[in-house]
Amino acid sequence: MQVTRATFDEVMVPNYNPAQMIPVRGEGSRVWDQEGKEYIDFAGGIAVNCLGHCHPAMVQALTEQGQKLWHLSNVYTNEPALRLAAKLTAATFADRVYFANSGAEANEAALKLARRWALDNYGEHKQQIIAFTKGFHGRTFFTVTVGGQPAYSEGFGPKPGAIEHVAYNDLAALEAMMSEQTCAIMMEPLQGEGGVISPDIEFVKGVRELCDKYNALLIFDEVQTGFGRTGSLYAYQQLGVTPDILASAKSLGGGFPIGAMLTTKEIAAHLKPGTHGSTYGGNPLACAVAEAVFDIVSSEEVLAGVKAREQRFKQRLADINSKYNVFKEVRGQGMLLGAELSEAYEGRARDFMMAAAEEGTMCLVAGLNVLRFTPSLIIPEADIDAGLDGLERAIAKLVG
Ligand SMILES: Cc1ncc(COP(=O)(O)O)c(C=O)c1O
Repeated sequence: MQVTRATFDEVMVPNYNPAQMIPVRGEGSRVWDQEGKEYIDFAGGIAVNCLGHCHPAMVQALTEQGQKLWHLSNVYTNEPALRLAAKLTAATFADRVYFANSGAEANEAALKLARRWALDNYGEHKQQIIAFTKGFHGRTFFTVTVGGQPAYSEGFGPKPGAIEHVAYNDLAALEAMMSEQTCAIMMEPLQGEGGVISPDIEFVKGVRELCDKYNALLIFDEVQTGFGRTGSLYAYQQLGVTPDILASAKSLGGGFPIGAMLTTKEIAAHLKPGTHGSTYGGNPLACAVAEAVFDIVSSEEVLAGVKAREQRFKQRLADINSKYNVFKEVRGQGMLLGAELSEAYEGRARDFMMAAAEEGTMCLVAGLNVLRFTPSLIIPEADIDAGLDGLERAIAKLVG
């Protein structure tokens, strides 16, 4: 059966507006479309393909597990899930893991756990969840309401309540909002979708102190920053601030859908049998792949390589900017980088992204003004250079 981009408009719900070309094959940081055109992939499936496309270790884990056991449900546990949870707890602050299928589901579990923990320990008055403007936590109704972009949560009827927002990096505003009624603060330790915005370290430390002062839980949404993306297994490890609950997804499965919520033994105890769940959570195929990803990404060599690639990327973006003066700022950490367009090109990030794709470089946007790059953590230097050559050609064409 021959399918084309036109088929999308005929058979798919129109909530996405995908590019005209249809990718059919990927290897490492390169992708080919139906016409055989080659692309350098700086999008990485939106910060997911942390080892590129079809990494041999992942293919091996998937095919081996695929010949053993595909699915059980949580009526039974399984070896890949137990091994992965053991590795995640050994490598982080957490003692307990809950597996889900996506970032939104990992956050949903985190929020429900926080509410239940507060109810059990303090009573019904402690429900307030505070999150940050421009934050993004997923598209379930609870997580999208906690997210700081109202346009995404409006038009769906009554929203979950007791959720408030405050500006990122504004500790005084946060403190003014907090009280003994605060149940949890949810934040990304670097806002991805919101524009690749890093927090001030003092702000993050202050958030932790306020959580301790008001007996509230600190939830880090590391769906985008986690699993090596910023140069440590999780971003909290570089910030030196430990959350009470952490949500992981995206790079965790390297392209296979999986999410995880990590927390302490004491907090986890509040999700008693029957309080929460998911048919596929902890699926053996997903966990086997994630374990293979973990074994590679958690190595010192790979994490150090992320930092080296960050330097190369940023230097080259600065060189491009010195020629064309298109960026106001290049920022971000590790392989989660953003280039904010200068005023002359305000609102045109999508045009730059499309022009780059024409030149064979796949990248992303974060809002209207920021070009975002989230390639494989092990992208070869030659591919960084080739992809940025494509971006430079696109910029040269666009700005004349
Ligand atoms: C920080 C953050 N949280 C949550 C999500 C939602 O993850 P998913 O789309 O897997 O539900 C995203 C996705 O972009 C994200 O960047």
